[in-house]
Amino acid sequence: MTGIKKIAVLTSGGDAPGMNAAIRAVVRGAIYNDLQVMGVYRGYDGLIKNDLFEMTSKSVSNIIQQGGTILKSARSKEFRTPEGRKLAHDNLVQNEVDALVVIGGDGTFAGARIFGLEFNFPVVGIPGTIDNDLYGTDYTIGYDTALNTVIDAVDKIRDTASAHSRLFFIEVMGRDAGFLALRGGIASGAEAVLVPEIDTDYQHLDTFLRNGFKKEKSSSIVLVAEGEKIGGGAIKIAEKVAQEHPNYDVRVTILGHIQRGGSPSAYDRVSASQMGVAAVEALLDDQKSIMIGMVNREIVFVPFNKALKNKKSLNPDLLRLIDVLSI
Ligand code: F6P
Repeated sequence: MTGIKKIAVLTSGGDAPGMNAAIRAVVRGAIYNDLQVMGVYRGYDGLIKNDLFEMTSKSVSNIIQQGGTILKSARSKEFRTPEGRKLAHDNLVQNEVDALVVIGGDGTFAGARIFGLEFNFPVVGIPGTIDNDLYGTDYTIGYDTALNTVIDAVDKIRDTASAHSRLFFIEVMGRDAGFLALRGGIASGAEAVLVPEIDTDYQHLDTFLRNGFKKEKSSSIVLVAEGEKIGGGAIKIAEKVAQEHPNYDVRVTILGHIQRGGSPSAYDRVSASQMGVAAVEALLDDQKSIMIGMVNREIVFVPFNKALKNKKSLNPDLLRLIDVLSI
């Protein structure tokens, strides 16, 4: 039998739509299992500053549909120091918290892993990032909503691109990963995608342009992942293309933080709910230092170490689809 009576929950790193649904599931999952729950404001910074408060079932009413995070988020520099983590631990002990649930991305889990080791403290992670770049899970909370935001924006740009027969470079987020660009590209019918995972991308694009892939099309869209390896992002790439291919009328749009906001999709809400409850139940089963993941729509437990050590790769079949479908 586990000795856990009280848990705390926080969100850290870049916010993602569906984080609120996950907080709600953690809080209600805990109360359902007769545990007390504390919320922590502003991620690890809040732990260090002892910014914790008691949460009830009512604290999470009417939030499943909201983007952002009611707990607020931060990227804590102090938590990277042993002194900062010691303060955080002291505050958890002082508040009689026995275990912690962290919702965030790889930076969040890297902190959680060290903290768990240093203090032998039970921590479970829930993957929340629009980047979908965590190894060991098919999916991270917020990715689906962000994808839908991307395709909504690209559809709109397509209207004007088509009216003027233009070539658009649209930059999407994703940090060092091309998941948003790849699936966003397929779903919006993009002619090409530039992703950090593929080195020879410019060559590929250049060949396409030289072969005149626009010839029979009224518009062309290239989705550029912000971490692309050519350098300079969509703006620089578009400049290069405009210089080398004066026959194209080139424009650029950077989607930016619009991708992080908005009401979460049904898929994000349901998965966040599943993962939130699974995190609490994992703690009650004496699990620690694991990320809750989803593989083939089933919950899995992935050690932090494994999730952080490995790099998730893009599905080559999806990459191929872009070429096949852009003829
Ligand atoms: O990790 C989520 C993310 O939105 C990335 O896609 C992006 O590179 C980064 O966060 C932006 O961070 P910030 O909001 O701190 O500018």
